Amino acid sequence: MKRLLTFATIAAFASGVAYADTDLVKEGEKIFKTKKIGNCIACHAANGVKLDGPGSLGPKLQGLSAWPEQALYDKVYDPYTTNPISAMPPFGKNGVLSDHQIKAVVAFLKTIK
Ligand code: HEC
Repeated sequence: MKRLLTFATIAAFASGVAYADTDLVKEGEKIFKTKKIGNCIACHAANGVKLDGPGSLGPKLQGLSAWPEQALYDKVYDPYTTNPISAMPPFGKNGVLSDHQIKAVVAFLKTIK
């Protein structure tokens, strides 16, 4: 019985993304801050992360820990779904970031209070 339960727990964990995983958060933070990859800091300041771009094109990111993961994923994948005139590029739709990279960024965004 104990064995069965353990197996069920592992299966449930593997089917979803472990957004609280510290390695995934670190990877996402790197993508967020690296000009050659995500370059989010060109437009967004956040939680101790300073803006590194010509202007504050995007809003300072805050309170994102309250957003559902899927909403954050969708925003990064294609901002036009929630804002048809967004100045933010569609990172997923344009193939700039892979599915895994977007999930890593979401894991980092979830840490932004
Ligand atoms: C060229 C500038 C630009 C870049 C680069 C950019 N964004 Fe944005 N972002 C915006 C703008 C402008 C908005 C506000 C309009 C909107 O909601 O679409 C926004 C909105 C957002 C929001 C919603 C914030 C809120 O409080 O509603 C999130 C989350 C976000 N961006 C994440 C990211 C991430 C993660 C990256 C990097 C992968 C990124 N952005 C790169 C310009 C940018």
